[in-house]
Amino acid sequence: MLKVVVTDDDKNLRKVILSELAEEGYHVAETDSGAGALHLLERDDYDVLLLDLNLPDISGMEVLKKIKQLEIPVEVVVLTGDTTISAAVEAMKRGAYDYITKPFKLNELKTVIEKAFEKKKLLIENLRLKTQIKIQAGHRHIETRSPLMLKVLETAKRVAVSDFPVLITGESGVGKELLSRTIHYESGRADGPFVPINCGAIPENMLESELFGHEKGAFTGAHEKKLGLLEIANNGTLLLDEVGELPLQLQVKLLRVIETKSFYRVGGTKEVRVDVKFLCATNKDLRKEADKGSFRPDLYYRISALTLELPPLRERKEDIPLLADYFIRNSPDFRHKRLSKEAMDLLAEYSWPGNIRELQNVMHRTLLLSRGDVIGREDLPSDLRGGDAVAASHLRLEDIEKDHILKVLREVGYQKGRAAEILGIDPKTLYRKLLGYGIRE
Ligand SMILES: Nc1ncnc2c1ncn2[C@@H]1O[C@H](COP(=O)(O)OP(=O)(O)OP(=O)(O)O)[C@@H](O)[C@H]1O
Ligand SMILES: [Mg+2]
Repeated sequence: MLKVVVTDDDKNLRKVILSELAEEGYHVAETDSGAGALHLLERDDYDVLLLDLNLPDISGMEVLKKIKQLEIPVEVVVLTGDTTISAAVEAMKRGAYDYITKPFKLNELKTVIEKAFEKKKLLIENLRLKTQIKIQAGHRHIETRSPLMLKVLETAKRVAVSDFPVLITGESGVGKELLSRTIHYESGRADGPFVPINCGAIPENMLESELFGHEKGAFTGAHEKKLGLLEIANNGTLLLDEVGELPLQLQVKLLRVIETKSFYRVGGTKEVRVDVKFLCATNKDLRKEADKGSFRPDLYYRISALTLELPPLRERKEDIPLLADYFIRNSPDFRHKRLSKEAMDLLAEYSWPGNIRELQNVMHRTLLLSRGDVIGREDLPSDLRGGDAVAASHLRLEDIEKDHILKVLREVGYQKGRAAEILGIDPKTLYRKLLGYGIRE
């Protein structure tokens, strides 16, 4: 439904416009002042603002400036007496969509409003397409055939559509952020922003203004007003990664935002309302942290009602070959390579403490460094081969020795004395070695 704000201090004019537009099925709000218009626009999304330039409080031009400054996505149609056409032209230079001179026919007004609305729809559609492209380019889907994971994914789809906070737990590298993105794209907020913040990576004294934003002059160094990530995530999803690292004092504030959907910028007095879905991720046991006193129990209960637990890779070994192949397929330069059975077995046996991130790194490194098209056991990093690395290379050395001895023996027609001479060893030593290999005459 088309939503319009009518701003004019002429009560009768407002009344006429209001009833006419309401009859068209528009949703209309009215106000007699500039401050009133801004207030309406900040509280709700409107498509078109009808704006008289001569208002009793702040001028229409000021209102327009504020709208551009705050980047409020509304198209402005200026209402002007014919004495103020130059002002109307000025307003268009400053970003108004069009103007209309009083007195006007209501039909004219409706046409202008509808055109303005078309423009807004185009802008939004463009924006949507752009984000859609970004989503498709940047989002990777979750590869899995593990029943454990499939169950988590199914639950994730169900919790995505509600506005409840969701907690995602799991070891480092299991895919917590990837799952968060998936929830965002399944949530009906896909056109809105997905904003991740790593609570453990930002210095404590900066985290608050990073999250909540600040007003100009809120503290030394706050030269300008800054939007916090909460506002940037409006109509979208905020991921609080490593939420266990959040300082206690910010935990209180976060709880309040989750409960009231509103907050104050640092140094601000105006309450800012946001519509944000909260996702939290952690590799800690937050319940334990809560028992210890390093995490607030009230926040813990609030965010953990819906918890998704991502199993470590070693508990879903069936995903190892699947993911290994996936990483090969997605490396444009090495798509033609493949893993030998021995190499695959080695990957499957390893415990993957760094989970999928570690597997991904190992695959990238191996693809880059391996020479042939078939990746063998020996192409994989030695830490995967772990304790048996030394034994394995010893074995191979023995094999080489055996091959060489047999080759020399063949060349000299199996005369052992001659072969020992060429090999530079005692005939008795050669004899022992041959016995060791199980070779008699
Ligand atoms: N099932 C999967 N399919 C494909 N890629 C995956 C899968 N799971 C994880 N990845 C990839 O593995 C890497 C690590 O995943 P992610 O960053 O989501 O893990 P995390 O749990 O957030 O890790 P950390 O605790 O270290 O922050 C990413 O590059 C991600 O795209
Ligand atoms: Mg992460």
